[in-house]
Amino acid sequence: ASVLVLNGPNLGRLGSREPDVYGSQDLVTLEQQLTTAAAGRASIDLRQTNDEAELISWLYEAVDSNTPVILNPAAFTHYSYALRDAAALVTKAGIPLIEVHISNPHARETFRHTSVISGIASGVIAGFGFGSYRLALMALLEPEG
Ligand code: DQA
Repeated sequence: ASVLVLNGPNLGRLGSREPDVYGSQDLVTLEQQLTTAAAGRASIDLRQTNDEAELISWLYEAVDSNTPVILNPAAFTHYSYALRDAAALVTKAGIPLIEVHISNPHARETFRHTSVISGIASGVIAGFGFGSYRLALMALLEPEG
């Protein structure tokens, strides 16, 4: 089984982007960490795009292939109803979709306090750095805890 780990705009710059907020590790490191954490139980398909349309097409792919999703929608979190509607297709199909954030958006600027995604996500994990993704992966692989 594989897990789609989808990352939205500006997350391709992890490592050099605001390291005080997002840490100094990049997406290649994240993919390695998740592959190790999955330990042969799942393959990790990690992707990043700045393009809303591409992110939406990947959510359709998750629906069509019945693949669980870990989604960091980045700034789209706060305003993209199009992304929300596409993410809802995933969870309404009974496929888990976990919203993750590296930082804790609730501890930051007011505009980050709203997520248009959370209401249709299976669950939300924020504030643990790359650990947010590992916790989401754990929730997918070990839903009984
Ligand atoms: C983020 C939080 C968002 O507010 C921000 O726009 C991002 C990253 C996070 O992972 O902490 O790009 O989703």
